[in-house]
Amino acid sequence: MYKKVLLFFCYLIISTSVSAQIVGAGRAVDPYEYQVLKTQTFERAAVASAHALASEVGTAIMKQGGNAFDAAIATQLALAVVYPIAGNIGGGGFLLGCKADGELIGIDFRETAPAAASRDMYLDKEGKAQTDWSQNGHLAAGVPGTVAGLFATMPYAKLPFKSLIQPAIDLAEKGFLISANEAQSLNWTMGNFNKYSTRPSAFTSRKEWKAGDTLIQIELAQTLKRIRDKGERGFYAGKTAKLLVAEMKRRNGLISRKDLKAYRAKNRKPLEFTYRGHQIIGFPPPSSGGIILAQTLKMLEPYPLGQYGFQSPEAVQLIVEAERRAYADRATHLGDPDFWEVPQEQLLSDAYLKNRMADFEAGKASISKNIQAGEIRESDQTTHLSIVDAEGNMVAVTTTLNGAYGSKTVVGGAGFLLNNEMDDFSIKPGVANMYGAVGGEANAIAPNKRMLSSMCPALVLKEGKPFIVVGTPGGTTIPTSVLQAILNIIDFNMNPADAINSPKFHHQWLPDLVDIEKDFPQETRKKLEAMGYTFRLRDGIGRTEIIMIGADGKRLSAADKRGEDSVAGF
Ligand code: DON
Repeated sequence: MYKKVLLFFCYLIISTSVSAQIVGAGRAVDPYEYQVLKTQTFERAAVASAHALASEVGTAIMKQGGNAFDAAIATQLALAVVYPIAGNIGGGGFLLGCKADGELIGIDFRETAPAAASRDMYLDKEGKAQTDWSQNGHLAAGVPGTVAGLFATMPYAKLPFKSLIQPAIDLAEKGFLISANEAQSLNWTMGNFNKYSTRPSAFTSRKEWKAGDTLIQIELAQTLKRIRDKGERGFYAGKTAKLLVAEMKRRNGLISRKDLKAYRAKNRKPLEFTYRGHQIIGFPPPSSGGIILAQTLKMLEPYPLGQYGFQSPEAVQLIVEAERRAYADRATHLGDPDFWEVPQEQLLSDAYLKNRMADFEAGKASISKNIQAGEIRESDQTTHLSIVDAEGNMVAVTTTLNGAYGSKTVVGGAGFLLNNEMDDFSIKPGVANMYGAVGGEANAIAPNKRMLSSMCPALVLKEGKPFIVVGTPGGTTIPTSVLQAILNIIDFNMNPADAINSPKFHHQWLPDLVDIEKDFPQETRKKLEAMGYTFRLRDGIGRTEIIMIGADGKRLSAADKRGEDSVAGF
């Protein structure tokens, strides 16, 4: 029944004789025939996300009269179906919006620690940190925030929620064709789905997946219908809550009915600052993303990066040293602001940041404190979507299960994956999380507390007008990827596609290494090695989705080359 999967250099076409319009108005969204589109300039509105079907759903919703907030809700819900590795209803995230009238919106739907969680819950009898417990299975899950986040977005949307969730329901019920990469990823995770789930699921419904198979998720469709019909209570109460709590009880999970009932998304005041005359908007704690972005850009602003040249030794050294200092601050000072006093004002003050770079020495590597930190893993996933509508509203959402497929626990009978976000807490001072990040008191586990994040949805205004919507997954590399996308446009005059696809580098204080992608310039590497830097090669860093609004008002959209990410628009 499935026909062909053709992979062009930046183009994927999946087609079949079966075809179904799942979204009524506008351009049809056909789960059996869709194409990956890497970069395109649209006249009025655009969506860039991790999956072509999700970008098309967001676009169709805007064609039906929805704005960027409607599209963000519908795109996220579609991702929960077609991008199960990270798109989710069992995880959490952050939404940053700038309305056409300039109003800024920050919605924090980060997961919380269950009420029964405790500071040392991931230490064994000998006091040794057990990262397997914080990373896999029932005990790794925080109380999901995504559904509350979607409903907290509704006041800014125009269409009824029922229309926004219907495409996701249809995609779950009728299924969609999966690509070779998606098949491979499901096959690789099959053992873990079986190990960490207590019931069979849609993902384990075949022994082996292959390109062109249809992934149908009936139980997920039923859960989405309960959310459609009962609103937030369709997830946090009633049958879905009952199934989730029953799942917890079948193993060692902590999430209770009370935790679900008590979960609230929170409105946060977005962080605003300027960089070379541009207004930058980032997300405040409990994400570290906005503060790291602000600190690094402000530390770099006094230097003529553009003159030094793109990925010149001078520019790379400066950026690395700014990153090192910002991540050292992250480890000590950042945590959930409802539980820990984050010295935000001081961390962002000009005097503090100037002083922070006072010991920078051109041509010589600084040295991070010698604390052991863990290895960074390559295959974990979060996902980001960037949207601009015809009115000029901008929305950036980064959302995650944390690792790929989160805890790998599918809620029996409810068909959705739970996050393993508890690992983002500092489970023991000095013990690295799965991204190698260390922390201490500020990010220690406490009941109902939100774990510190690196997610960094970001917006840029130029002369008061919408300019850039950007964000990415990538664990601790998130803020430095967003930083490079912004520098590449503002300082190095790149177009959005080059800005996100150029080779990336990353430093996070500990481990004291410069991570680079394989196409990072060798000459710069050699010069920095001579200054005392140690390099580590990594697979692709991040999957950045960007939309830039040109001086003529056109939406220049680009989806990262590193995955099957795709843009759509009109
Ligand atoms: O909130 C955070 O910082 C992490 N849970 C994000 C994880 C992530 O980006 C994984 N993607 N590659």
